[in-house]
Amino acid sequence: MQQDSSLQRPRRLRSSPLMRELVAETAVEARSLVMPHFVLPSSGRAAIASMPGIERVGREQLLHDVESDLELGIKSVLLFGLAAEGHKSPAAEASKDPSGVVQQAVSTLKAEFGDEIFVICDVCLCAYTDHGHCGLIEGGRVLNDASLPALCDMAVSLAEAGADMVAPSDMMDGRVRAIRRALDSRGLEDTALMSYAVKYASAYYGPFRDAADSAPGQGDRKSYQMDPRNAREALREAQLDEAEGADILMVKPALAYLDIIAELRRASNLPLAAYHVSGEYSAIKAAAERGWLDEPRVVAENLVALRRAGADILITYYAREALRGAWL
Ligand code: PBG
Ligand code: ZN
Repeated sequence: MQQDSSLQRPRRLRSSPLMRELVAETAVEARSLVMPHFVLPSSGRAAIASMPGIERVGREQLLHDVESDLELGIKSVLLFGLAAEGHKSPAAEASKDPSGVVQQAVSTLKAEFGDEIFVICDVCLCAYTDHGHCGLIEGGRVLNDASLPALCDMAVSLAEAGADMVAPSDMMDGRVRAIRRALDSRGLEDTALMSYAVKYASAYYGPFRDAADSAPGQGDRKSYQMDPRNAREALREAQLDEAEGADILMVKPALAYLDIIAELRRASNLPLAAYHVSGEYSAIKAAAERGWLDEPRVVAENLVALRRAGADILITYYAREALRGAWL
């Protein structure tokens, strides 16, 4: 250490654009971005009022969007399905239908793009239950173990349709182990598993629930998703999912939980994903539409913060726009 602190000039490293490029510690690259898609059971496009710029799409439209995203460098997608009219039920049977909306979307994408595209599928029942909860319910309680067979069937059907990775998102107990075993017993040991290991009961999911038509009819998700006041519990959840066989851990939402991302980065050697969720997207959009925020710069700042905190993989509705506009 130099004694005379007056000689220390950190500004020297910021003095020109090339110097700043040379010493930058973090980058957001296209290869780290995952674009989410909402897949409709019918053909066409449907706007999402609370998420300007994002649409629900039928299968042909999905193919088209994925193709143009590939040209931007987006090689990974995360698929959510919407149940066909009249196909929601108490036990979410439609979720495991081999000819269901997401199963068909996966096989179409794989038939068209093969190894060019990495397809991740959300595994949760809430888009297919008539009550909108993520598990089966009985007497107003959301059942843990009784929901497992449906989730395993859903994961297996998606993997058989060609999904590269399944991502259980309901935040209940024992999911990762049960789904891993179900996949392995069907010879699907190469299908990867990304756990929504640390998912908080967040107000930031509001726009998503409009998009996916998956809001609970009664009550909330606080008996299964985590309490935003807790950080130690996040480590526990992550350690359990790692022990159960998760390949990748996720923290969700992203920006309000940078401390959790940083802590998990130190506590685990697994790749870490951060989900920049619907409400984080919508909040920036709304402010940008009013001219109150410089959208490209705010998005770049948000995404680089997630990488700086330690996330390897960024799931964001901004993937397409940020790459198209060269914001990053
Ligand atoms: C379903 C699910 C949700 C999200 C991803 N998977 C909603 C929820 O838990 O209510 C949220 C994604 C987003 O807000 O962008 N379990
Ligand atoms: Zn759910």
